[in-house]
Amino acid sequence: MCGIVGYVGTKQAVPRLLGGLKRLEYRGYDSAGLAIIADSELKIIRRQGNLANLEAALSDFDATGTLGIGHTRWATHGHPSETNSHPHIDCQGNIAVVHNGIIENFHTLRVELMQKGHKFRSETDTECLAHLIESYYQGDLLAAVKEALRQVQGTYAIAVICRQQPDILVAARKDSPLILGVAPDGLFVASDIPAVIDYTKEITILENGELVELKSDGYRIIDAQENMIKRAGIVIDWDIEAAEKGGYEDFMLKEIFEQPTAVKETLSGRINREGIVELNDIGLSDESLRQVDKIYIIACGTSLHAGMIAKQAIERWARIATEIDCSSEFRYRDTVLSERNMVIAITQSGETADTLASVHIAREQGAKVLAITNVVGSSITREADGVIYTHAGPEIGVAATKTLVAQITALILLAVHLAQQRNSLEQEFSREIAKELDALPAKLRTILSQADTFKNWAKTYHDVYDFLYLGRGIGYPVAMEGALKLKEISYIHAEGYPAGEMKHGPIALIKKGVPIVAVALRGPVYEKILGNMQEAKAREGTIISIATEGDGQISALTDEVFFIPRSNEILASILAVVPLQLLAYYIAKERGCNVDQPRNLAKSVTVE
Ligand code: G6P
Repeated sequence: MCGIVGYVGTKQAVPRLLGGLKRLEYRGYDSAGLAIIADSELKIIRRQGNLANLEAALSDFDATGTLGIGHTRWATHGHPSETNSHPHIDCQGNIAVVHNGIIENFHTLRVELMQKGHKFRSETDTECLAHLIESYYQGDLLAAVKEALRQVQGTYAIAVICRQQPDILVAARKDSPLILGVAPDGLFVASDIPAVIDYTKEITILENGELVELKSDGYRIIDAQENMIKRAGIVIDWDIEAAEKGGYEDFMLKEIFEQPTAVKETLSGRINREGIVELNDIGLSDESLRQVDKIYIIACGTSLHAGMIAKQAIERWARIATEIDCSSEFRYRDTVLSERNMVIAITQSGETADTLASVHIAREQGAKVLAITNVVGSSITREADGVIYTHAGPEIGVAATKTLVAQITALILLAVHLAQQRNSLEQEFSREIAKELDALPAKLRTILSQADTFKNWAKTYHDVYDFLYLGRGIGYPVAMEGALKLKEISYIHAEGYPAGEMKHGPIALIKKGVPIVAVALRGPVYEKILGNMQEAKAREGTIISIATEGDGQISALTDEVFFIPRSNEILASILAVVPLQLLAYYIAKERGCNVDQPRNLAKSVTVE
């Protein structure tokens, strides 16, 4: 995720900006850059790769200014490169901008600005901000930024400086974090507290829609209506490790709580005002998608579970026959593919060796390959014909959480898009799904606000040997993922199973007290799973269920129940998986496990 830092004060800006960026390294990045104003000049330096590259280049950089901005970039629009790195500048080289977030309407803004004569240098969404601010600038940077932001749709935290006003830094935010740090020698803005923690512990959190103008001797915060905002700062007592985790105990917990944002960012710019899914930038034409007669989904681990959900969405809505296989099997079986087949390769890292090998085979046989990945510029993006990026931000915890919900979101968008191409869904229904997708972040926040439920359950269930997770329909992949999360991080044996298959084996495991997690969501197979729960209860298993809000039947059958908000049945998979992540997390914590780095596991498996 991109990281921003800005400084204005009495000391040299470059060491402070660089120090701040180093503290933001944990967020993941592929390039970095700085801009400072010195001797009435705007000076910029950017490098692809890690901060050591930028630091080495600084030896030739005349950098004596006391005001500047810095950025670590984690690519979302445009490949990692020096040209796409921030800061971005306007035509005249007077205004420099760093940005974290996604400008959804950047394409429209870019075309309008180009028609007015602006020349663009990069492929990024951010560059349009520099040109837009330039077009409004009449001697007052704060006013120009405010006007420019009125034209912008999307999410942003930005910091802006201008050569003509060498003592002012302007910053603003909407749906991307931004903090203000008050240090003895000056003022900072940053996307995260670790960036300023070496210089100050006095922090003010900026709210959505607010802008701040910083000078070395003070600052003023205004909202979009230009009301002056007075807000008392807070003094934090975190050390650097706690600050990197945003105050959460572990990265995994932080990432679980980042899921509403991951969904929102993945949807960003992909549903138009009429509720139509638009995937214009995926690299596969509508015509080529219309020709697809069969889909193969390949993936590993958690990504495979996203694929199982996608299979159901694609078959139900787009009516395209879809097979799914784990990459390590697909690559060694004698698959029969044709030019009218499409392979969807799902991999958050874009580097999993088995998935890359499978993609290679698929291409050799002439199939089209569409990758779903979270990492711009990763190996899979070079192998595939098309890519849909998830925008979950870097995931540090080894066990995938927010990348999964972002994958499911992207795949649901794809399923609706394919259905739209084939007219296999009523327009009204696809608009309804678009509306429901939009409502997901708020529903996820409702679930996360009840995290204590799972903390309590963990106290009861942390010392068992076996767990059984059962689901049917969309609940089946959710159950598989719940079991995977538990075994990955708590080392408790957990089996995920299609509930209807229970009587063909796993029922033998059920005895008094064995916990059975039932994903019992409203939908076509709801009554069936109730039957399976009854069978488990008759054998004295302890039933824990994830059910749909308003379900009056379930309580009689279950020892514990967690209700998720109502939603379309396929979309409910996103909501139902989060309680299972929380259950696994708190059980692992109760057992004293290292949840961020579980034994024997790697975040990205780049060997066979
Ligand atoms: C490893 C990770 C899992 C991940 C799987 C697939 O096993 O620990 O969290 O789901 O690889 O990774 P990918 O990057 O291809 O999604």
